[in-house]
This record gives sequence, structure tokens and C-alpha cells, in this order.
Amino acid sequence: MDRVSWALVGTSAFATDWIARGIRLARNAELVAVVSRDPNRARQTAERLGAPLAYTSIEAIENDRVDGVAIVTPNKQHAPLAVAAARRGLHVIVEKPMAPTVEECVAMIRAAREAGTVLAVAHCTHWSPPVARARELVSEGAIGEVIEARIGASFDSPPRGYWRQTDPTEEGGGPLFDMGVHAIDVLQSVVGPISEVAAFLDHRVHHYAAEDSTTSLFRFESGAHGVLESNFNCGQNDLEIVGSEGRLQSSAWLGREFSGDLRLLRDGEEERQELGAIVVYEPQVEHVSDCVLSGGEPVISGERGMLNVAVIRAAIESARSGRVASVRIG
Ligand SMILES: NC(=O)c1ccc[n+]([C@@H]2O[C@H](COP(=O)([O-])OP(=O)(O)OC[C@H]3O[C@@H](n4cnc5c(N)ncnc54)[C@H](OP(=O)(O)O)[C@@H]3O)[C@@H](O)[C@H]2O)c1
Repeated sequence: MDRVSWALVGTSAFATDWIARGIRLARNAELVAVVSRDPNRARQTAERLGAPLAYTSIEAIENDRVDGVAIVTPNKQHAPLAVAAARRGLHVIVEKPMAPTVEECVAMIRAAREAGTVLAVAHCTHWSPPVARARELVSEGAIGEVIEARIGASFDSPPRGYWRQTDPTEEGGGPLFDMGVHAIDVLQSVVGPISEVAAFLDHRVHHYAAEDSTTSLFRFESGAHGVLESNFNCGQNDLEIVGSEGRLQSSAWLGREFSGDLRLLRDGEEERQELGAIVVYEPQVEHVSDCVLSGGEPVISGERGMLNVAVIRAAIESARSGRVASVRIG
């Protein structure tokens, strides 16, 4: 086998325009099926995307024709679908956030381990050009010791009845589980694990079930500090990593098909980094497909996805209790 056969679970514009495109662009993957709860939508979407197979559930998938599933559904559906897929012997790329709770993440990891299948969490910003370059520069010591990191992950989301607004924060709604989890993944992959969180979650402009304003203060295991602003009522996606010998700044660290920007400021000079444009879902699918073909562990593993969810759970705990919360697994 030199190509992994993927089924797309979910038929949103994001699934069909971007994840299907990532699968098409990857050299070692092909889209063979679409799964929708509605049989007509499954068939029509499969036809439109050039996939020969259409199903209405994970259980209906013929696993001699499909190797894995890309789960692109509301956050609450991630765990049940990923567990069902692993039990059918199917590999999984599940969208971020991995699941609303750490307990669900544990169940997903256990199911994949028992089945011997690959489990990856679609933390596509691992391949975001400014993030990948920042990770390299920080690990090479280009800015010395990291002192603090500030990141924004926000967009305006007026009330439309979407599940990301109507599901309470505890159940996977709101900006922290939506864009914030990308930012947390970036911070943990560049600066290291976060150990403590103090957070405020508030309704400010939009009054749906999930809070639309969140600010989280982090202490990393290294002793560095961090701040995440993640909101559903304004646009702001800057990143700054401050080190003892310099700083990195980006005004566009997050995108789908983009190069972004990154500046290294050091010794009174500003060095703009050369970054090539990519579709972030292409290397994501290619990497996970490589892991399926070679038996390797994805860099965007279930454990990594779970650590990001654990930070959000600590933020919720802190906001509800008014105290600093430790990041805990289990
Ligand atoms: N990495 C990124 O850049 C990125 C960007 C956007 C979204 N995402 C992630 O992708 C996931 C899906 O987001 P989306 O914006 O595509 O959501 P969406 O527009 O609400 O679409 C959800 C899809 O899931 C399917 N689905 C299965 N069970 C469902 C249920 N109980 N209720 C509603 N829909 C259900 C639906 O397809 P059928 O009705 O055909 O079954 C629907 O097309 C989320 O986890 C989100 O965080 C990631």
C-alpha cells in the first residue's frame, strides 16, 4: 500500500473545501468516501468530491475499502466517533479540539491503542509557516531564554445559533475550544508544557450560552509566562515571544492557505523571516498518512491533543473558582 484511503466524516464547507483538499493534495492519500447523517448529502457530496463511496455512519464503512476517517464534526461528536472508528480498525484524524473533556481524550487514546490504529489530532498550526519557523528559532536559542509569550486567537461571531455559540464552554462551545485551542497548541509546541492557568471567561458583546470573551494567564513548566486572548467578538491574531536576547513577532500566525509573517528582533535589528505559502492541511494529511503507512506516531498525537484540552479545562476551573488552577491529566 502506498496511499491511505480516507473517508471524510462531516459535510460542512470547511470539511469539503479544506480537509478534502488537503487529502487530494497529499502525495500518499486519497479521498474514497464521505460520511453524512443524511444519505442524499453523503452521496451528493461524495460525487462532487470525486469519492466513489458514501456512508451514513462509521459502522457502515466497509473497512476493506477505507483505511481511516477524517472526523470534521461538532466538538461534542469527536470522542464517540473516534472511539467507534478505532473499534472498527480505522485510523483517525480528528479535528481540534480533540474533545471537550480530558476523560474523553483518554477514552480516544485507549481505543486507538487497543485497536493498534493511528490517532492524530488536526492541530494544523503545527505546519503554519510562522509557527514552524518560530519553533526552530526558539529551539536554536535565537532569542535566548523565553521569558513570556502573548498570543491572540479571535474573530467576531455574531449570534447565529451555531453549536460553537449555543454549546456552553464546559461542553466544547466558545472561543477557547475553537480558536484558543490552536493558540494553546502553538504555545505548548514552541515554549513547552503549561503547568498553571488563571483565566477570566465573560459575556461582553454576544450573549449566547458560551462566553464570548476569554483571557488566560499561563505559567509554563520552564517558568516562562504566557497570555492568551481568545474572543468571539473582535479580530486579533498576533503572536509575540519575548526572550532574554530578542523577540519574535507575528501579525498573522494562523491561516489555511498562507505564508504569514514573522520578525526576529535582536541587537537593535529587525530580521524579516522568509516564509513560503502552504495549504496547512496538505502536510497534516501527508504526515498522518506516512504514520499509517510506516507505523509511526504522529507529531500531532492524541497525547498532544489531550494536553491542549487539559489547559482549557484548567482555564474553566480557574474562571469558575476565581483561583489559579493546575493543568491535570486524570
Ligand atoms: N483546523 C481548522 O482550521 C478548522 C477550521 C474550521 C473547523 N474546524 C473544526 O472542524 C470541526 C467541524 O467544524 P465545522 O465548522 O465544519 O462545523 P459545522 O459547519 O457545524 O459542520 C459539522 C458537520 O458535522 C456533521 N455532523 C455530524 N454529527 C453532527 C451533529 N450531531 N450535529 C451537527 N453536525 C453533525 C454534519 O454533517 P452531516 O449533517 O452531513 O452529517 C456537518 O457537516 C470542529 O471540531 C471545528 O473545531 C477546524
